[in-house]
Amino acid sequence: MHSEESKLTKIANPSAPIGVFDSGLGGLTVLRALRQRLPQERFVYLGDTARTPYGSKSPETIRRYARECAQFLQRFEVKLLVVACNTVSSWALDELTQESAVPVIGTLDTAVSAVKNLERVERVGIVGTQATISSHSYEQHLIAAGIQAKFFPQACPLFVPLVEQGMYEGEIVEKVIELYLAPLKKEAIDTLILGCTHYPMLAGAIGKFMGEQVRIVESSEAIAAVANQYIGVSAKTTFDGPSERYFVTDDVGRFNALSSLFLEAQPAQRVTLEALAGDANP
Ligand code: DGL
Repeated sequence: MHSEESKLTKIANPSAPIGVFDSGLGGLTVLRALRQRLPQERFVYLGDTARTPYGSKSPETIRRYARECAQFLQRFEVKLLVVACNTVSSWALDELTQESAVPVIGTLDTAVSAVKNLERVERVGIVGTQATISSHSYEQHLIAAGIQAKFFPQACPLFVPLVEQGMYEGEIVEKVIELYLAPLKKEAIDTLILGCTHYPMLAGAIGKFMGEQVRIVESSEAIAAVANQYIGVSAKTTFDGPSERYFVTDDVGRFNALSSLFLEAQPAQRVTLEALAGDANP
């Protein structure tokens, strides 16, 4: 068996759903790619909207939140856990992987694999939350993957609140993009990694500002491809019941209104933070 494929473990319960979580709406950009690639699968999505943004929190807090989200999804006996959050992938992926009985897919290796497929990668901008950028996780993964380039990391703390407010274009968005990305434009980067799953919603405005010569890379397609590899080595899925369930830790109204801008989503159910942390049934 090829080395990449031999790393894939067989999924014990193929008819179980795939669990996906993020601090809020951003992970829906990953779910969208997963759904397109794996239309026969069931998904359970959790957005920890009561505690978003994660990117301004300490590593200890990020790890605690991440563990609670993972434990919540495990109650659905998910067969794969997709960490659709770069902040969590940067600070808690090893821990989640060790504690999980099922395979865990994060955003870092997957985004880096997308960069590896590009030619002439010399000057790479990396944008992400404060926590992701301060972890230097992207630089470490890029170097480990043998990508010899100059890196230009940039934290963009106002991007997530813009996306959570449903603001994807317009004057304010353009001003904020200019504030963060003007230094990267000046450095004449050739590639820009969107190191946060919320940012693909701003990709149109970011692309317009950076210009066509800059390639924009994000992890969602690569995550879906890895999930597909796991599914591929397992038996075929058969199931009854709803194909998707959405949970949020705060008001469902705002999430339901905005989620339709990402994908055609089912209405979300509320799970309280107490229920998330405890063992109450969802
Ligand atoms: N979408 C997440 C990420 O990829 C989290 C952003 C946040 O909550 O700050 O980092």
